[in-house]
Amino acid sequence: MLKKYYDADVDWAVIAEKTVAVIGYGSQGRAQAQNLRDSGLAVIVGVRPGKSFEAASLDGFTVMPVCDAVKAADVVAMLVPDESAAEIFRREILPWTHDGQAIVFAHGFTLHYGQIIPPPNLDVVMVAPKGVGPQVRELYLADSGVPSIIAVHQDVTGNAKETALAFAKGIGSARSVIMESSCAEETETDLFGEQAVICGGVVNLMKAAYDTLVEAGYEPEIAYYECMHSLKLIAGLLSEGGFTMMHDSVSKTAGYGGLTRGPRVIGPEAKTAMKEILAEIRSGTFAREWLLENQVNRPQYTALVRLEKECELERVGGEVRRIISKRK
Ligand SMILES: NC(=O)c1ccc[n+]([C@@H]2O[C@H](COP(=O)([O-])OP(=O)(O)OC[C@H]3O[C@@H](n4cnc5c(N)ncnc54)[C@H](OP(=O)(O)O)[C@@H]3O)[C@@H](O)[C@H]2O)c1
Repeated sequence: MLKKYYDADVDWAVIAEKTVAVIGYGSQGRAQAQNLRDSGLAVIVGVRPGKSFEAASLDGFTVMPVCDAVKAADVVAMLVPDESAAEIFRREILPWTHDGQAIVFAHGFTLHYGQIIPPPNLDVVMVAPKGVGPQVRELYLADSGVPSIIAVHQDVTGNAKETALAFAKGIGSARSVIMESSCAEETETDLFGEQAVICGGVVNLMKAAYDTLVEAGYEPEIAYYECMHSLKLIAGLLSEGGFTMMHDSVSKTAGYGGLTRGPRVIGPEAKTAMKEILAEIRSGTFAREWLLENQVNRPQYTALVRLEKECELERVGGEVRRIISKRK
């Protein structure tokens, strides 16, 4: 049974007087640092010189090299890219850690796949917000918060779970829900969701549907509206009120067509592919491939992103979006 926590379950005192070092000031770093500061914590930012350093300074933070931030902190939030995290941890964090510190990860990837093996004198927890950085900030400012999944990877002080709960509250998650899981479950389901649904399955579904219409002689712009543009509307309905709200909002024709034809599009073959993808995630095959890809400066990723940017759906979609935004 999934354990869930809300505002009243959190002992804020475990973190109230602590200094939090946010390492990295990108999508999550910026949002979490600002939320933690607005929640009343002393927050410092550790980054290398450059864009992030300037952004954090402009936002009014005390910014310093990663090693100095780690030395000064009680809680260290690792908000750097997962593919670089092991190297940053080994070189710039590990030598400066000290007894009693807690390290907070926003995703279980590096811990679950053994890229970072923390020393035994630290509390190590995961607080993984289920939303992109800008949402983490936007919802916090609206007196709400994105849900977070927490996990305890290592508990030396006996307070690791309380620290994770308090950190999650600091970024706003106690206003919605904090769920307790494990790094394994968070990592494997997160990767699976990205690959099978949000960044893989849905994107390829749109591409295949668009190609089918265009190859059958329909106008590319009309095909774009039908296969890509309308998705935002449906995603909004599903996220707000599930299948019920979708069926209440779309025509009966659309609902009937979807219910009867949808399973032919995503049928047993898709489920077989999903099982294979999940097996690659669970066995570490995907993680190994992605980490090795990064070691050679991501040649395959770079080529695939370029090809996707050059595809006709992207060209037609860009044109349509330009026209719509000019008319606003
Ligand atoms: N993005 C999301 O929606 C999301 C959602 C949930 C969890 N997460 C997790 O949050 C963590 C951070 O992801 P993110 O998307 O926020 O990353 P990001 O936007 O790519 O930002 C990474 C930050 O790390 C800094 N950085 C990179 N290499 C560095 C180095 N060698 N030394 C010091 N700083 C360095 C970057 O600074 P520079 O400007 O100097 O490069 C930047 O400020 C990851 O564990 C990710 O899985 C992300």
